[in-house]
Amino acid sequence: MISKASAPGKVILFGEHFVVYGVKAILCAINKRITVTAEEISERKISIISNIGKLELEPNEPISEITSPLKPFYYLANKIIQDKNSGIKIQVESEIPLGVGLGSSSACCVAGAAAISKLFGNNSKEEILKLAIEAEKTIFQNTSGADCTVCTFGGLMEYDKEKGFSKIESEPNFHLVIANSNVEHSTEKVVAEVRKFKESNEEEFSKLCSEESALVENVLKLLKENDIKGLGEKVTQNQEFLETIGISNDKLRDMVQIGKASSYGSKITGAGGGGCIFALTDESNLENTIKGFKDKNFECFSVKIDFKGLDTF
Ligand code: PMV
Repeated sequence: MISKASAPGKVILFGEHFVVYGVKAILCAINKRITVTAEEISERKISIISNIGKLELEPNEPISEITSPLKPFYYLANKIIQDKNSGIKIQVESEIPLGVGLGSSSACCVAGAAAISKLFGNNSKEEILKLAIEAEKTIFQNTSGADCTVCTFGGLMEYDKEKGFSKIESEPNFHLVIANSNVEHSTEKVVAEVRKFKESNEEEFSKLCSEESALVENVLKLLKENDIKGLGEKVTQNQEFLETIGISNDKLRDMVQIGKASSYGSKITGAGGGGCIFALTDESNLENTIKGFKDKNFECFSVKIDFKGLDTF
């Protein structure tokens, strides 16, 4: 028996960092996917093959002793074959660059949970999401679950630390050109730096949180109206807030300027310090925006919102 599942990556459109302090963030799934193929095998072993390496172990190894980034797959396979006599072979194919804030690990966990569990029965998307978040916790103990949620259900989502997730039903028609700084970032480290900024600038930070909240409310209206130019202005404004809290650097600023030259607005997405930026476009300025990055030798690609989320086949 073989089963296959794929899940999209994600970007944070608005609200990163401020979300840690109670402001709403807006995320969307992107049409770049991770596909996982799982096969039940007679040999009692778990074997994982991907373009970042290989992991082959017997069942019941202690998770804490596994250092491979493929650990979430092992966790899932091991959990699911507990009461079986067989093993599992897993193959991972990815269109999402790793470690740059585009949700590659969440997409792995969601597609992995779906493909592996489908070998032995049918689970709802909610059940798969629960398994995926458990698996993601083997690498990011403090994950909010926001990334796995958007990778499972697709589309646009607002996320509030206290109130959780809610799907945004708008279907705006923009393109995002994502440019990769190729600098891996540690979300944990950048979040700690922002905390320091906040502690030394309480009043300014609190004002920024209010401004970001107002911006996000505005964005929700603009998304409904498919007002891409209006959204671009909010992108630019949000980037200014991110500059103020210190998560940018010369390389990212340079990339944002290149993006801004031909798009409606450009900003860092995710933790910053490295990772990716995006530029918001429609059909009319998509090609020029891509050219702008390519002329300066930056790796970039365009995406649209993925409305499908997890897909099993
Ligand atoms: O780098 P990413 O895409 O994992 O984003 C981190 C988002 C932060 O708001 C900076 C942190 C968080 O936990 O929400």
